[in-house]
Amino acid sequence: MLKIGLLGVGAIGKVIATALDRREVDATLVALCDQDRGKAEALSRELSCHPPVVSLEEMFDLSELAVEAAGQAALPEFVSKALGRGRDVLVMSVGGLLGHDEWFREADRQGRRIYVPSGAIAGLDGVKSASVGKIESAMLTSRKPVAALRGSQFIVERGIELDALKEETVIFEGLAEEAARAFPATSNVAASLRLAVNPSVPVKVRIVAVPGGNENVHEIRVEGEFGRLTVKVENVPSKSNPKTSQLAAFSAIATLKNLTRSLRVGT
Ligand SMILES: NC(=O)c1ccc[n+]([C@@H]2O[C@H](COP(=O)([O-])OP(=O)(O)OC[C@H]3O[C@@H](n4cnc5c(N)ncnc54)[C@H](O)[C@@H]3O)[C@@H](O)[C@H]2O)c1
Repeated sequence: MLKIGLLGVGAIGKVIATALDRREVDATLVALCDQDRGKAEALSRELSCHPPVVSLEEMFDLSELAVEAAGQAALPEFVSKALGRGRDVLVMSVGGLLGHDEWFREADRQGRRIYVPSGAIAGLDGVKSASVGKIESAMLTSRKPVAALRGSQFIVERGIELDALKEETVIFEGLAEEAARAFPATSNVAASLRLAVNPSVPVKVRIVAVPGGNENVHEIRVEGEFGRLTVKVENVPSKSNPKTSQLAAFSAIATLKNLTRSLRVGT
């Protein structure tokens, strides 16, 4: 059975750990790691499999696949140590992968896998299929409640007063790479779309603040030789982290199921 180590036991990590504990996936949770050790120990006590709480290095020693659900800042150490020890990884903080093509090259060289679940968006299967042909444009519009944007570096640096907004307001327009830097905690969908589309095609991103909103709504639109694709997902936020959509954790679990089942549906 696939041995899984988990870095980050927050909103997403806890849902993944619980699914593994309930044997919803044909895999075992063999280690937990978090900068907040007490939080990881509390989760370990709650789970019936009581995984040990360990250092990052020990986690790689114990596991075959390491799952990251910690944050962009954790990625450089996580990915480089995982590849250094020849482990496959599943990454939720997708924005942190952009600009690090050397990790992809190293994984290729070693025959290792970097899994990026669809996260809070759908339709990446169609986007990948479309990218086999010529893509003319790719655009993401993300409508976010004020609570999901609060504290973002971009908002703080520009002194944007979210509570003063009376109507839907475009607060960011730029490329996916810029969105990933400006909103590290909430731009993973932009980064996933970036990785799914041919690198030569710019991926444009618009972020809209929605006063009184309570869902993270992502809409992708891609045009190309295949025709046109529009996908919209109205995400319910996680109860413990309004920046995170419930679908994101579910997508990680679905990816793990894909890895361990003989039948794989979808591109
Ligand atoms: N792919 C997607 O579509 C998608 C969607 C939502 C969230 N995310 C990303 O997934 C990640 C996890 O999200 P979450 O809502 O569970 O976050 P969270 O804040 O609820 O939990 C993060 C956990 O990781 C721990 N942590 C943070 N930095 C760490 C480090 N350097 N080393 C060890 N532990 C560390 C924290 O203590 C916390 O327990 C975030 O980067 C988030 O942006 C991705």
